[in-house]
Amino acid sequence: MGGVHLRNWQAAEESEVVAVCDANPITGEATLGNIDAGSDRLNLDGVALYTDVAEMLASENLDVVSVALPTHLHKAVSIQCLEAGVHVLCEKPMALNVPDCDAMIAAASKAGKHLMVAHCIRFWPEYAWAKKAVDSGEYGAVLAADFSRLTDAPAWADGSWLADPAKSGGLALDLHIHDLDFIQYLFGTPSGIRSVGTRHVQTQVDYADGRAITATASWAMPKSFGFQMSFKIMLENAALVFDGASLKVYPAEGEPFVPEVAEGDGYKGEIEYFSGLLAGTNTEIIIPPEQARESVRMALETIRS
Ligand SMILES: NC(=O)c1ccc[n+]([C@@H]2O[C@H](COP(=O)([O-])OP(=O)(O)OC[C@H]3O[C@@H](n4cnc5c(N)ncnc54)[C@H](O)[C@@H]3O)[C@@H](O)[C@H]2O)c1
Repeated sequence: MGGVHLRNWQAAEESEVVAVCDANPITGEATLGNIDAGSDRLNLDGVALYTDVAEMLASENLDVVSVALPTHLHKAVSIQCLEAGVHVLCEKPMALNVPDCDAMIAAASKAGKHLMVAHCIRFWPEYAWAKKAVDSGEYGAVLAADFSRLTDAPAWADGSWLADPAKSGGLALDLHIHDLDFIQYLFGTPSGIRSVGTRHVQTQVDYADGRAITATASWAMPKSFGFQMSFKIMLENAALVFDGASLKVYPAEGEPFVPEVAEGDGYKGEIEYFSGLLAGTNTEIIIPPEQARESVRMALETIRS
């Protein structure tokens, strides 16, 4: 994921990448890993390489650090960076528990720096389009919604930290949280959450108003399936259906159509946005850290349930 951040910070207009830190020294052979089928080489020209975060913070004059470390390190390294006076873009999930999220929020507030959790789905073109359509009220109120994220069990992570729930939070905090966060983004804080399953989890997110809002996350698919994220949002006057490839709008009257969505992906969108926020070219806070904390709480609630 660090490679994905690197590429997108390098592409963002207002930013320049001056340093990368990885405990396992990076070489010119480094690639984007599983995200891009391992084919895309990182561009490390003019980038200082470190293996220790404290050394990087002491040696460089940084404005912002992307924390794309294994999840159990998010809290400590984000706080370390905030205390050094830099803004932080931290990968999701924010942390493994709510008190750790609180400590990160307190550190950001004390430092007077931005702390954004990289909930890329809020910026994923089809999801961002759906959020605008729902908020506009153009198709009426939401009656029901269903979100899904299916893949095989991850085996690619460094030292298999991802397979260790004490380090990754498991399926709920690693995968399911994407849709739980988007549900929160659309509908706010739920009144209750009920889940069944372990490697394949089905969750009902309750708003105590009769709407059926559900999400499914799976690490139970065969490897040959790959990965698929999708959603269906049923409104009074239309259904919005994303099948993983394209978004289609089925209006109550008239023909179905494919709306024009932004180019690129949520990683590009979130880093362009955050870069602009720091540069002052945009001002809206799209992911308040308190909402990222609530998404952690929701994910933990699916486990408890
Ligand atoms: N938003 C998304 O779609 C998405 C996708 C994948 C991963 N992630 C998140 O990104 C984070 C990283 O996941 P990943 O798959 O890239 O993990 P990874 O194991 O592939 O990479 C982690 C990197 O951190 C380095 N590292 C470990 N300890 C370190 C330390 N103390 N100091 C410096 N470097 C250290 C490792 O050498 C490794 O290169 C996780 O929190 C994960 O949940 C998000």
